[in-house]
Amino acid sequence: MDPRENIVPLTRVRAPSDALGRPIHDLRISVMDRCNFRCPYCMPRETFHESYRFLKSNERLDFAELLRLARVFVRAGVKKLRITGGEPLLRPNLSDLIGDLTSLPGIEDIALTTNGMLLAKYATELKAAGLTRITVSLDTLDPGVFAQMSGGFGGVAEVLDGIEHARRAGLAPIKINTVVQRGVNDHTLLDLIAHFRGTGIIVRFIEYMDVGTRNHWNPALVVPSRELAARIHARWPIVPRGRDYRGEVAERHLFEDGAGEIGFISSVSQPFCGDCSRARISSDGSFYTCLFATQGMDLRGPLRAGATDDELLELIRGVWSGRRDRYSELRASMRDAAALHKVEMNYIGG
Ligand SMILES: C[S@@+](CC[C@H](N)C(=O)[O-])C[C@H]1O[C@@H](n2cnc3c(N)ncnc32)[C@H](O)[C@@H]1O
Ligand code: SF4
Repeated sequence: MDPRENIVPLTRVRAPSDALGRPIHDLRISVMDRCNFRCPYCMPRETFHESYRFLKSNERLDFAELLRLARVFVRAGVKKLRITGGEPLLRPNLSDLIGDLTSLPGIEDIALTTNGMLLAKYATELKAAGLTRITVSLDTLDPGVFAQMSGGFGGVAEVLDGIEHARRAGLAPIKINTVVQRGVNDHTLLDLIAHFRGTGIIVRFIEYMDVGTRNHWNPALVVPSRELAARIHARWPIVPRGRDYRGEVAERHLFEDGAGEIGFISSVSQPFCGDCSRARISSDGSFYTCLFATQGMDLRGPLRAGATDDELLELIRGVWSGRRDRYSELRASMRDAAALHKVEMNYIGG
């Protein structure tokens, strides 16, 4: 017998999978539950008002704790990190954390999602700390619609300036996240595409989702990606390009005239739970296995009580191996979906 038959090729060694056979691959870390915007679809002003009780700074994981958890998640199988929030650039000295995370062995990719308001200030130091790419949320170029969708904070000019600073700092690719709401911003999307087409910046349209319990989700406001793609195709023909890897959230399309790429994230009309390999940790160290989860597992308690890395790894593996979440696939058939007490998105990160 050829002795090489006993050698398992590295590519076949798989990270432990959940109860539905999905490996853990991505970790989204919310570093800040606060935000300088009040997008009604995420943090509506009537709930997240001046006296809303956000986490105190000692309730948030500090950088040493975040780094340690990230290291343990890498041992559990994670290869990709996304830093998010709330607004991550509100977290003081974030570049220091990025610097430490980018040098973690086993991490193949690290990304950051921001609303862009503070990006002009921080783009250069983020790049110097080792961040390579960035996602900026921008729902429209129309100032009135922008104000409506940001809850009256920030402005288009500041976000575009932040994107320009990111470009000049060499962050690439730059992706734009655009939440689409019927009758709110969908009439402004061709202008947004016209602005970014041909620049190398990739716009991704996200179907408006029923995250949390406070955004008064109304399915009538969801524009299915297929409908939006047809509208775009009528103006600039596009062709599907498929996903780059199993679990990628965006369905990619190329402009036929070579002016670049756009993407669609269709968690409502075409749920992709079957390939979901994303874990999340909230700013205060709870571990969630789904964006629509109703509860998480506290990792901060054991961390602060002196748990070893091996003990933390066992906790993470135990939760992941029992994971059965597939909320988006079940949403349509669940009579009480709206009544579920789902965790808020600013807390666990989008
Ligand atoms: C929660 S935010 C956190 C990072 C940062 N504050 C930002 O806005 O980019 C992450 C992403 O979630 C998206 N998001 C928030 N609420 C959403 C909803 N109800 N449906 C779809 N996407 C949503 C945002 O537009 C953003 O692109
Ligand atoms: S989507 Fe981002 S910018 Fe808007 S309220 Fe949520 S966390 Fe803030």
